[in-house]
Amino acid sequence: MTTESQDALAASNAVDESIAPLMATLSLEEKVRLLTGQTAWRLYAMPGIGLRSLAISDGPVGVRGTGEIPGATSLLMPSPSGLAATWNIDTARRAGIMFATEARRLGVDIVLAPQVNIQRTPVGGRHFECYSEDPHLTTQIAAAVVSAMQDAGVAACVKHYVANDSENYRTEYTSRVPEQALREIYMAPFEHLVTDVGVWSVMAAYNGADVGDQAAPMTEHGHLNNDVLKGEWGFDGVVLSDWMATNTTVESANGGLDLVMPGPGGPWEGKLLEAVRRGHVNESVIDDKVTRILLLAKRAGGFGEPIPAPSRPDDAEFLRQFAAEATVVLRRGDEYVVDPANVKSIALIGPNAVNAYVLGGGSSTVHPHYVVSPKSGLTEAFPGADITLLRGGSALVHTPPADLTQDVTVPATGEPGIAVTELNAAGEIIKSLVNPAWSGWHNDPSEDCTDVTLETDLALREAGEHRIDIGVVGAHRIFIDDNLVSESDVEVDASVILDSSANSPLGVGLAVSTDSPRSVRLRVELKTVDAGGYGRWVRADFRHARPGPSIEDEIREAVEAARTSDLTVLVVGTNSEVESEGWDRVNLALPGRQDELVRRVLEVAPDAVVVVNAGAPVLLPWLDKAKTVLWAWFPGQECGNAIADVITGRTEAAGRLPWTLPLSESDVPIMDTAPDADMVLHYPEGIHVGYREWERTEKAPAAPFGHGLGWTDFEYGTDASAAVSDDGMVAVTLHVTNTGIRAGAEVVQAYVEAPSPSPAGIERPIRWLGGFTRVTIDAGDMATVCVRLPRRVFEVWDISSHSWVLPSGDYTIALGRSVRDLRTRALISLPSPGSTASAVRTKPREASALTQTDHSG
Ligand code: BGC
Repeated sequence: MTTESQDALAASNAVDESIAPLMATLSLEEKVRLLTGQTAWRLYAMPGIGLRSLAISDGPVGVRGTGEIPGATSLLMPSPSGLAATWNIDTARRAGIMFATEARRLGVDIVLAPQVNIQRTPVGGRHFECYSEDPHLTTQIAAAVVSAMQDAGVAACVKHYVANDSENYRTEYTSRVPEQALREIYMAPFEHLVTDVGVWSVMAAYNGADVGDQAAPMTEHGHLNNDVLKGEWGFDGVVLSDWMATNTTVESANGGLDLVMPGPGGPWEGKLLEAVRRGHVNESVIDDKVTRILLLAKRAGGFGEPIPAPSRPDDAEFLRQFAAEATVVLRRGDEYVVDPANVKSIALIGPNAVNAYVLGGGSSTVHPHYVVSPKSGLTEAFPGADITLLRGGSALVHTPPADLTQDVTVPATGEPGIAVTELNAAGEIIKSLVNPAWSGWHNDPSEDCTDVTLETDLALREAGEHRIDIGVVGAHRIFIDDNLVSESDVEVDASVILDSSANSPLGVGLAVSTDSPRSVRLRVELKTVDAGGYGRWVRADFRHARPGPSIEDEIREAVEAARTSDLTVLVVGTNSEVESEGWDRVNLALPGRQDELVRRVLEVAPDAVVVVNAGAPVLLPWLDKAKTVLWAWFPGQECGNAIADVITGRTEAAGRLPWTLPLSESDVPIMDTAPDADMVLHYPEGIHVGYREWERTEKAPAAPFGHGLGWTDFEYGTDASAAVSDDGMVAVTLHVTNTGIRAGAEVVQAYVEAPSPSPAGIERPIRWLGGFTRVTIDAGDMATVCVRLPRRVFEVWDISSHSWVLPSGDYTIALGRSVRDLRTRALISLPSPGSTASAVRTKPREASALTQTDHSG
C-alpha cells in the first residue's frame, strides 16, 4: 500500500470526537508503546490520559481470565458447534450475556471470541470451536453473541481473519482461496459482524492468504486488512495479532495490523519507533492505530466510563438447558424418553461415561467451577436406580494421569506432592518447594533458573504390572528408580505452544512389576523453556496405569452389565488426545475399541441410548443398529445433568446438525489439510464447502446438514409463499403442524436454489442455506412460520467486477427439516436492477423432485 493511501485511510477513520484531544497529548513514544501488549493478557495503561490497562482473555467456551487471580475458575459453556446446533438466536444472545458477565467478574475487557472460521473439513483440529460449515448459520449465531457482549460493554474479538481453517502447519501455510469462495464463504461472517453488528476487534490469523492481488501473512495483508476490512467495510476497531503471529515491523505496521500480541517485546516494541523516524512507517499510520485502540478502550470502559450491567441469567440452569437443547437426536425409536419410575438398574458404559470430554483442547480451555459427570446427572435423575459405571476399555493412547491427590509423596518428608528444585546455570539450588497440587506446569521460575528438578515417590498399591509414563517438553533426563529411561538435549521454544505439542506431551516410561505394595522414585530433570510471550516454565505429566483387566475383559464386563440392566446408557466419544487446537485429526474414527463396544452392547441391549460426546464428526458405523443416538457435543460443566434431562424428557434435545455427518471418510469432500511443498494450502472445492459439496456429488451422508429429530414430528403445509418485504428481505411464510404428542421445537430451514441456468461465468451451489426460523409448537397445533432471507444470500461475488451482484430470475426456496429433507417450496422472482420484485405463490409439494431421508429408525 502506498503512503498516500495510508494517509487517506487514517484520515477517513471515524473518530470519536473525544479521542482527538487525547491523541494530541501523547508523544510518539507513548503512542508506539500502546501498540504492543504489556503482558500476554494486558495492554499498557496511559495514566496521563486516564487510560487504564485493558485486560484480555481467551474465550470461545467461556472466559478463562488473565491468570492474575490465583485459582480462578469459570463458567464452562457447551462447545461453539453446540451453540450453533441450537439454531436458537435467543440462546446465542444469552451466551453473549454470559461472556460479558464472566468477563466483568474476572476483570476482562476484551474476549477473544467468537471464532467464525468455517468448518471446511471435519478433521480440522479447532472444528469444535467454530460454529458451522455454513456461513449464514455462523453469521447469525455469532451476530447474536457479539451484540449481546458489546451491549454489555465487553469487546468481542472475532477470529481468525481469515481462511484459518485447519491446524497442521498453522503458522506456516498460506491459504490460496478462490476469490468467490473467499468472499461468499470465509469472509462473509467477518463482513457481517463488521458492517451490521459493529464488532470492536478482529484477530489477524497465523496463516497467510493468497488472494491474487496479494499473498501475505494475515498480520501484514494490506489488501485484506486495509483495503477490505477497514476500507470497504468501514471497520473502526482494532486488528490485533494472533499470539506471536507477527514476524515483521514495517510490513505489518503498514499492512493494517494495529496491535501486536502478546507483549512485552515482539517485532514492534523498540523497533517501530525507529521505523517511523526513518520514514518507513508514516506517523499518521501510528495515529490511526492508537485512535482505534483508544476508541476500543472508550467502548469497553477503559477511561472509567460507566458500563451497563447485563442482566444475569441463572447460570447453572441456563447452561444445563443450553447443553440439553443443543443435543441432536440422530436416531430415535418410537419412544426414547425414559420414565425414571420404571428403571431400577442402569448400566452406564463407555470411556466418556467415566471421563466425559467437556471441552476441547487448546487455548479455549477454561477451568470450570465444577463438572457434573454423567453418573452424577443420572443419579439425581434416577433416584431409585442402581447405577453400574463401567468404562468398557480405555480409548486413550497415553497412560492415564497418575492420582496426584493420593499416590505421590515427597521423598524426603513423605508429605503429599512433588518436590520442585530450581537450579541456576552453575547447578546451584536457588529455590526448593513442595507442590501439593501439581498441574503439569511449573510456571515463572526465578530469573536465573536454568534447570528444574522434580522428584516424587509414586505408590504402587497393587501387586501386578504397573505402567509408568512421564510426558515432558524439551531437554530433559528422566529416572525411574534411578534408571535413566529417557534423555534429550533438544531445547524448545514458543513453537511447542503454537503447535500445541506442549498440551499433551509424548510419554516415556516403562512397565514395573511388583508382588506387594511399594513405591517407585520418579526424578525428572528439565531445562527451563523460554516461550517468549507464553512465559518461562517447565512441563511434566506423571502418568500411571494400575494392573487391571484387559480391554477385552472390560468390554465383556460392560456387555454383561447391559444384558442385566433395565436401562443402558453408552457414552462414547473423543478426548484430549484427539480433538484439540494445534493439530488436525488423522482420521474420523472413534478412538480405541469404542465401535466394537457399542456393537457388542447393542447386541444384548438394543434399546440402549447411545450418547456421542464429540465436537467434530466421527464415523458411527453402528448407527443403523441403534434405536436412540444422541449427539451431545462437548457439553460443558452441566454435562451429566444435560444428558439426564434429555433421557428423562426434562428438556427436548432439539439440536440440528450445523455440519454433515459422513458415512465414510472416502465421501468427505476435504480430508487432507496438508499444504504443498511451497506451504500453499489449496481450496479446490471453491464455494462448494461442506453440505454444498455433498449436494453436488449426491453422496448419502450418515446424517445431513440440518438434521435432528427432536422428540416430536412435524408436517409442512403446501401453501408456502414468498414475497419481498419492505426492508428488502425475502419473507417466506408457511404452515407447520406438530403431529406428535409433545410440544417441541422445529427449525424451519430455507434453502435457496438459483435460477437455472446461471448467467455465464457465475457459479452457484446446488442449494444453500438462506434463512431459518426456530419455533416451538404445541402438540397438535399448527403455526404460521415466517423465514426471512436477507438480500445478501441471493447475491454472488462477481469475480470480473469484484463486487456483489444479484442475478435476476426465479429463485426457489426449498423448505424443510434438513438439506436432505425438503418438504415444500416457494418461488420468488427477483428483478433485474431497477425493476420491482414480484411475489410468487408456492408450488405444491414436489416430493419427487426432493430428496428425503428417513432417520427415524
Ligand atoms: C490461538 C488464538 C488464541 C491465542 C491466545 C492462539 O494460539 O490461535 O485463538 O486466542 O492463542 O491464547
